[in-house]
Amino acid sequence: MTTILKLGGSVVTEKDEPETLDEPALDRAADAIGEAHLDDLVVVHGGGSFGHHNAAKYGVSAETGTHDAVGVFAIHAAMRELNTAVVQALQNRGVSAVPVHPFSLGHRDSSGATTLPSAGVERMLDEGFVPVLHGDVVVQQAEGVTILSGDEIVVLLASALSAERVGLCSGVPGVFDGTGAVIERIDDFEAVADALGASDATDVTGGMAAKVRELLNLPMPAVVFGLDDLDAFLAGQTPGTLVAGRP
Ligand code: IPE
Repeated sequence: MTTILKLGGSVVTEKDEPETLDEPALDRAADAIGEAHLDDLVVVHGGGSFGHHNAAKYGVSAETGTHDAVGVFAIHAAMRELNTAVVQALQNRGVSAVPVHPFSLGHRDSSGATTLPSAGVERMLDEGFVPVLHGDVVVQQAEGVTILSGDEIVVLLASALSAERVGLCSGVPGVFDGTGAVIERIDDFEAVADALGASDATDVTGGMAAKVRELLNLPMPAVVFGLDDLDAFLAGQTPGTLVAGRP
């Protein structure tokens, strides 16, 4: 049974401090993953203050690209640094984590449709590894390089690997409604659109609204929850918000 888990950038980094890890949070997440002993686990992490800060600095978003190789490398290098920290935290708990860098794998056409080959990730799972991917830069036809969010990677891999379980561990305990209460279940975007405001910190990939939109496109349900509920999710429970996926 394949599980895809995204660790949000706001969980593993100090989102408002450029290129700063949230070490206690990363340790807690790694502890939970280490203790769960899951077979067939893929981890994807977001950019937080490593990705979004650098993307904003070079004027790159999911839609607006750059041909500036220095900027491309700066964003990618910051994400590799964060990825190294995540892989090492997992390896320190006995998890067979290995890095996978989407920039070297994926590409986009001019409409923004992303191709991300998954055969290598599948082979890694077969060999007992835990692939750790990350939000990254991606080469795009006519744009140069744009941003590929961890959420989009989750959506692409969940479909390609026919994952049974998809979890997004976020900086909040679930998707909030207009009153600040966690919505238990989301079946369609329009029903919750008004309640989903933009995220406060610099986020070039659109915050919670974009996340929900992408998850609704999945052929399987996904769960959005906070760090306190990571062990519950890994134990097979459905904490936070269930996003129903395509009917
Ligand atoms: C962003 O990935 C990656 C870059 C900006 C390079 P995400 O959009 O998945 O990151 P978080 O989880 O919101 O921080």
